[in-house]
Amino acid sequence: MSPHPPEVTEPGTTTPSEFDSEMDYRAELERTRSQLLVFARDMSAVHQRKREHEQRLSVLLEELRTDYLSIVETLALVVEAKDRYTSNHLERCKRYGIALTSRIDAELITPQLQYGFLLHDVGKIGIPEAILMKPGPLTEEEMTIMRTHPLIGVQIVAPMRRVLDDVTVEVIRHHHERFDGTGYPERKAGSDIPLSARIFSVVDSFDAMTSDRPYRKALALDEALTRLRAESGRQFDPDVVAEFEQLMQSIQSPEDW
Ligand SMILES: [Fe+2]
Repeated sequence: MSPHPPEVTEPGTTTPSEFDSEMDYRAELERTRSQLLVFARDMSAVHQRKREHEQRLSVLLEELRTDYLSIVETLALVVEAKDRYTSNHLERCKRYGIALTSRIDAELITPQLQYGFLLHDVGKIGIPEAILMKPGPLTEEEMTIMRTHPLIGVQIVAPMRRVLDDVTVEVIRHHHERFDGTGYPERKAGSDIPLSARIFSVVDSFDAMTSDRPYRKALALDEALTRLRAESGRQFDPDVVAEFEQLMQSIQSPEDW
């Protein structure tokens, strides 16, 4: 019986014949095994540290995202605070918007859509208070300035595109378009207007009509619905108005939403 185990024939590797005895060979084998165990432990520790770093990074990114959104919400609330006549308008519009969207296409409801509802008028930060809070109808020149607020809003949220998507921007940009193509800022018409903006346009107008304004008292619910119906196919998407009417029939008052 040979004193050595069979030779390893891989080129460049150590063969048992290079050892003086089987004992030396086995000792070298044991050293190699120990080194491999140490290496495996080191690799395991490296992977563990990598996992811990990834988890920490994930937490930091979530915190950053939350901070961004807090800033955005603060901006929206600053706008609301500037206009003492539209108290809680944002929250109501968000609530009405979600209720109506869930009837039309529930899959549209995302956090980004809801941020669009909250931020639709964020561009009013750039509108002078003398115009924003004027206790009466605006002149044509003042209206021209007021009509810049959708695009100012788009500019304000542009650096926040990591957390706000196209839907958010669509609501901000197009919530004053009209179904007949005579709105602003792009005079889009019909289905060229994003559905999110067509939906929001109805709830925004409904809330404006049913809230006290400096130059008029809030309209009664029936009167507001009559005006929405009158603008169906003109200012508003007829399908969206029809859904809104059905929604109104299913609730007793807006406070129930
Ligand atoms: Fe607006």
